[in-house]
Amino acid sequence: MLDNLGFSKGLAGVVADTTAISQVQGEAGRLIYRGISIETLAAKSTFEECVFFALYGYLPKKDEFDNFVKEMKGYRSLPKYAQDIINSAPTTAYPMAVLQAVIASIGYSELPVNLKHEDENKHEAVHLISAISTAVAHISCVRRGKPVLSPREDLSHAENFLYMLNGNVPDAALARMFDVALILHLDHDFNASTFTARVVGSTEARLALSISAAIGALSGPLHGGANEKVLEMVDEIGSPEKAKDWVYQALSSKKKVMGFGHRVYKTTDPRAKVLRSMLETLVATKSAKEKETYEILKIVHDTMIAELSKKEKDYIWPNVDFWSGALYRLMGIEPADFTPIFAVARVAGWSSHILEMWRDNRIYRPAAKYIGPTDASYVEFADR
Ligand code: SDX
Repeated sequence: MLDNLGFSKGLAGVVADTTAISQVQGEAGRLIYRGISIETLAAKSTFEECVFFALYGYLPKKDEFDNFVKEMKGYRSLPKYAQDIINSAPTTAYPMAVLQAVIASIGYSELPVNLKHEDENKHEAVHLISAISTAVAHISCVRRGKPVLSPREDLSHAENFLYMLNGNVPDAALARMFDVALILHLDHDFNASTFTARVVGSTEARLALSISAAIGALSGPLHGGANEKVLEMVDEIGSPEKAKDWVYQALSSKKKVMGFGHRVYKTTDPRAKVLRSMLETLVATKSAKEKETYEILKIVHDTMIAELSKKEKDYIWPNVDFWSGALYRLMGIEPADFTPIFAVARVAGWSSHILEMWRDNRIYRPAAKYIGPTDASYVEFADR
């Protein structure tokens, strides 16, 4: 990993800072938020409570929690200039590009950052965490030519998002599944988009601009866009009978199978297990045709694991993106909205990391391993 200069491609294995927000235990396949396992939080908590937990570092008392939920609800609406950005974007615009622009526009009114004003910074974070879900739903509705609905304060964060997205209040089971999906995607120590948020935030840039930068990082298919590609893979395979051969072909042509592999996990991503379990519950209520996606995924999953262990690549396992796309599609969510939804959750992690870093901030400025010439001469045009 690290050479004698401390160089490691992709910063693999490099410790860039400390954090107490989350830990990815790669060998054990465990993920904890401030010491509590993701499975426990998925079973017992809510997205709003996990946002508080990530930002403040402790589980709130009931009255604190109720006030926090009220504060989040108060920040759901978008300013008109942010709505105008969405409404003026072409319906063919790449959703993550629109989202990045909208969140940056929230920075129009942000005051210069004062690291000592922790409370103000937290309130600004809550503002962004709440507003981004309205922005994602608004962008989706404009793209699909659906009516844009105002947020409702009588609904939870998950219920309100699905309501704004699809125009009806989801049933409790569906809303709970989406709430758990948001919890699962909330934080993941120093993944590429969180590290991006930290780098930009370390310059004392306004919070909206750090979050906007992180949205750019998340948009890449190697990071946030993989679950969309997993569904494209399923649709390309077409039927369960063709799944095995597709995997053999993919692996022999050194193709990266989306939804598999991770820089840190050396076993199945614990989030994938929770997502798969929710998918199985939802699939049980669906038609045979809708069940087929899950059948294909199961065969790809099992064949990949069998083939990779034969090739002694048993460090490649399913990650969070392998099952989430199928779950979201059964929830009535379009693939183009999958990565923006990842941002709806991860914005809480990005913000928490920036605020944590600001308590003992130092601008990120790593060294470079220079491999170019050191004594080159300038050659005039006539002599080139
Ligand atoms: C998430 O970092 C995070 O924490 C991210 C995330 C979060 O919550 O923020 O967890 C979110 O998990 C998203 C990951 C979703 N992306 C994908 O599913 C895309 C497919 N996966 C790969 O692109 C890859 O596994 C990465 C990007 C996830 C990890 O890349 P690494 O650590 O740089 O690994 P690598 O590309 O150097 O691969 C190492 C070896 C290579 O083989 P060799 O060249 O050594 O022979 O493993 C092979 C790769 O070819 N490999 C795969 C593979 N992923 C890696 N082979 C087939 N299919 C794959 N998916």
